[in-house]
Order: sequence, then C-alpha cells, then structure tokens
Amino acid sequence: MPGLLDSAVKQLRDGRLVAIPTETVYGLAADAKNVVAVNQVFATKGRPSGHPLIVHIVNPVLPTMSSLEKQNAWQHILLDWSRDVSPQALALAEAFWPGPLTIILPKAKNVLLEVTGGQETVGIRCPNHPLAQELLKLFDGAVVAPSANRFGRISPTTADHVRDEFPDGDILILDGGACDVGIESTIVDLSRWDSHGAVILRPGAISKGMIDEVLGNLITSESHQSSNQGDISKPRVSGSLSAHYAPKTKLVLYDPNNIQSINLADYKGKKVAWAHFKDSSRIDFSLSCHLEELLLPSTSNDLAKCLYATLRTLDQSSVDVIYFEKLPDSEQWDAVRDRLGRASVGSGA
Ligand code: TXA
Ligand code: MG
Repeated sequence: MPGLLDSAVKQLRDGRLVAIPTETVYGLAADAKNVVAVNQVFATKGRPSGHPLIVHIVNPVLPTMSSLEKQNAWQHILLDWSRDVSPQALALAEAFWPGPLTIILPKAKNVLLEVTGGQETVGIRCPNHPLAQELLKLFDGAVVAPSANRFGRISPTTADHVRDEFPDGDILILDGGACDVGIESTIVDLSRWDSHGAVILRPGAISKGMIDEVLGNLITSESHQSSNQGDISKPRVSGSLSAHYAPKTKLVLYDPNNIQSINLADYKGKKVAWAHFKDSSRIDFSLSCHLEELLLPSTSNDLAKCLYATLRTLDQSSVDVIYFEKLPDSEQWDAVRDRLGRASVGSGA
C-alpha cells in the first residue's frame, strides 16, 4: 500500500494521527517529537495527561549483523531517547526486539515531558509488524502509540475496531489485519536497576521466565495497583488501574470449582453468555432463557489473540451478562489473566 503509506507519513509530518497495526494491538500514532501531535493523542483518547506514552522506534538491525553490531545499532537508536542505555537494556533489545516488549529507561533530556507524563523515565518499544516498520522507516522518526481505543476501554486488534472507537475522527487507519499477539506488550522497568533490578510493570507475551533467562533472575513483578497508588515517585501505568480494558457488558469471573455459589436468579429470562474451557464443570443455566456458549481456546496464546475481539462482539450482541471461567494460576496465563481481571472490574459501566 505505497500510496497509503505516503499519506500516513505526510499525516505524521503534519502533526496528525495515524492508527497503526502492531503485533500486539493497534496503536494511535503521532510524531513523538511534536508536542501538538502528542497532546492531540491525549485529547482523542480522553486520556489523563499524567499517563505516559510508549515511544515506538524503527528496527535498526539486519539479520546479517553480529551480536556486537546489533547491540551497537540498538545503542545508537536508544541514545536518542535515553541518557542511560544499560547493558541490560541492550541484552533485552537484542533478545526480544522487534517484539512485544516495552523497556522503561531514564529519559534523555530532549524527550518531551508530555510523552513521559512528567516523569524522568521513558518507555520504548520496537514493534514487530511489517507495516509499522515500513511506516517508521519512511517517516524517519519515532512515534508515540498508545492503544487506539478510548481511555479505559478494550484495546483494538483489527482496523474495524479502531473505526468503531473513533467513528468521526480525522484519523488515517493503516489496515494490517488482525494482530498476532492480541494483548499489549510486556513492560519491564530497568530505570531502577541498581536498587530494584528489573521490574515487570505489565505482564505480556514476553514472560517473566523469558526475561529471567536473559537477565539472570534479577527480576521482580510489581503489583500493578501498588505501583499506582499514592507514591508519585513511582512510574504511573495507566493499564495498572484496577478497572481497564473494560467491556460495557457486566463480566463475571467464576471459579469452576465453586459453581454452586453462582447466583443466576438476577438473570432469569435474560441473555447470558458463558465462556468456559472444554470439559470444565457445567453451570445449570436452565433458569436463563437465552444462553450463548463460547468454548475457550486451550492455550494462553490463542486466548490472548481472540480475547478483546470476543469481548467486543459480546458487547455488540446485547448480552446482559458474561460468565467467564477463571483462568489457571500458572505463569503462562499471567498476562491474559491480568487483562481479564481488569476487564471484569471495569465492566458494566
Ligand atoms: O503493546 C503495546 O504496548 C501497545 C502497542 C500499540 O504498542 N501500546 C500500548 O500503549 O499498550 P498504552 O499507552 O495503551 O499503554 C502504555 C503503558 C501505559 O500503561 C503507560 O502508563 C506505560 O505504558 N508507560 C509508558 N511510559 C512509561 C514510563 N515511563 N513509566 C512507566 N510506565 C510507562
Ligand atoms: Mg491502552
């Protein structure tokens, strides 16, 4: 789509917004060095100004490069954004970029405070989607790109979802198909390395175990809520609000080992959606008139890929309540369980 890409580059240069596909979710991109454009992102999303944005950079690495050449290339581009590009940052970049990992580093002097939400740190990610990469290359700069949804709502994983979020917006949308990963990038904070090691602020497809392997176990996970409450010296992560990624329909998470406690009386005669794994305990929905049953995929990657699209479809199908089986406790489910939990808290509003 050369014509459309050229228009998208022009749009970015003019300080306007472009919705871009990434491997995680669609982003609402704007020139990371243009303060007017960055402010427009906050206004369009309805996002509070203290919530920092991720800077998305072009992939400077060629497959033929040696490990040293790759790390040099990452260092060169990261120094535009961070004053302290640590060996740990380079190791993570080499291992996982382009890919679904955001690294928090001390910001460089010229990075706009509007981008960082007033903080001294900046989040950086190199997305792994060919269209996003082509755009970044042609643009010859970096873009901020929060998920292309209104604040607090479900992140978009197709171009149609973006259109639904911003029906009257002056936003050019690059359609790169359905997102491969389906949930937002893992965020790892390296800015407090000396005192805290690496801290995972948001779980994602790059798991704690995968990061451990590269950094050698110096990693902790910070409870999202505690990172957000009271202490303003700590990074603020908007996805850390306990209510986020929320469908309009009430979403109830139930324990498949305790289905007796489910009270269906309130939903007698209403439309109920029931999402569960194959072979799990059956709920007796005979009281409810209309039942829509959804069989969940058995792997966390497959569920991540379809979770947001499923919640959107249910929102549109005038279901009164969604009963969703709780996800397993193991690490591989951390990221999807996190999103589903927040979706449930914010649902029905
Ligand atoms: O996968 C993704 O990361 C997607 C795609 C479009 O790249 N983007 C995304 O952006 O999820 P957004 O704005 O919806 O979420 C970014 C998160 C927010 O929770 C924000 O607070 C956090 O990253 N963040 C950004 N900069 C930060 C910083 N300096 N310190 C702590 N958290 C930061
Ligand atoms: Mg978001």
